[in-house]
Amino acid sequence: MFDLSGTRAVIFGLANEDSIAWHVARALKKAGASIHVGYQQRFKSRVLQALKDADFAPDGLHRCDVTDPAEVDAFFTAVGGPLHVMVHSIGFAPLETFGKPLSELSSTEFSQALEISAYSLLRLTRAALPHLARPASVIAMTYLGSTRVVPGYKVMGVAKAALESIVRELAAEVGPRGVRVNAISAGPIRTLAAQAVPGIDSMLERYAEVAPLRTRVEASDVANTALFLTSNASSKLTGQVLFVDAGFSILGAVG
Ligand SMILES: NC(=O)c1ccc[n+]([C@@H]2O[C@H](COP(=O)([O-])OP(=O)(O)OC[C@H]3O[C@@H](n4cnc5c(N)ncnc54)[C@H](O)[C@@H]3O)[C@@H](O)[C@H]2O)c1
Repeated sequence: MFDLSGTRAVIFGLANEDSIAWHVARALKKAGASIHVGYQQRFKSRVLQALKDADFAPDGLHRCDVTDPAEVDAFFTAVGGPLHVMVHSIGFAPLETFGKPLSELSSTEFSQALEISAYSLLRLTRAALPHLARPASVIAMTYLGSTRVVPGYKVMGVAKAALESIVRELAAEVGPRGVRVNAISAGPIRTLAAQAVPGIDSMLERYAEVAPLRTRVEASDVANTALFLTSNASSKLTGQVLFVDAGFSILGAVG
């Protein structure tokens, strides 16, 4: 579909073969890009195990916790430039945080979710900038909970609202340097992160019955849109949130 030969990409947020980042990495690699993956230490063995049976192999695999500036710097020093694509596919809040009413969150709980799920895009972009080619594309993953109340999503909705705002602000800031910044808003997909959201199972069950396209969304659908955002076909597109959700977000009510 897209020829990405000569493209160098860094991809964050790969925990196992269900991760959206896994499917993005696979799609970019199959399109000819060279890919460097950042993983969180606690998922190292899972990632290595999954890659043993995979039909693609990253060109580089480096530990990178986005709350640790030293690990972020070490990642970009190891990978170097030029970089044409950066994929931020990261989100986290502890289970206890998801389970609590928003009004009862401590500032520590709030800050942790926001630092990992939103601020990290700024930290990674800052570290990436000296290595980013012109043009380059930065892609983040978001969800409808940024603008709508989705039961159980709670603080992550606040984090995604911040993330989407960061996408717009960053797009304006780094646009003059030839860097585009966009987000993909995916419909619900069964992944490790999704399992932390209370009610995800019933949401997934109902999805294909009510979404306009009468289907669920797969991580591979998100990966295809990431391919588009990586390629020159999207060269004038920046600061946007693209919905890959089978049309769910246009609904005003579900019967
Ligand atoms: N699965 C869905 O339904 C869905 C829908 C819309 C958006 N998203 C978003 O897609 C992105 C990827 O999530 P996923 O569904 O693939 O789940 P996932 O659990 O596979 O990926 C989440 C990733 O975040 C990483 N992460 C968490 N804390 C980190 C830290 N401190 N440093 C570095 N990495 C850290 C984890 O290691 C993991 O790889 C997230 O931003 C998520 O909110 C998911």
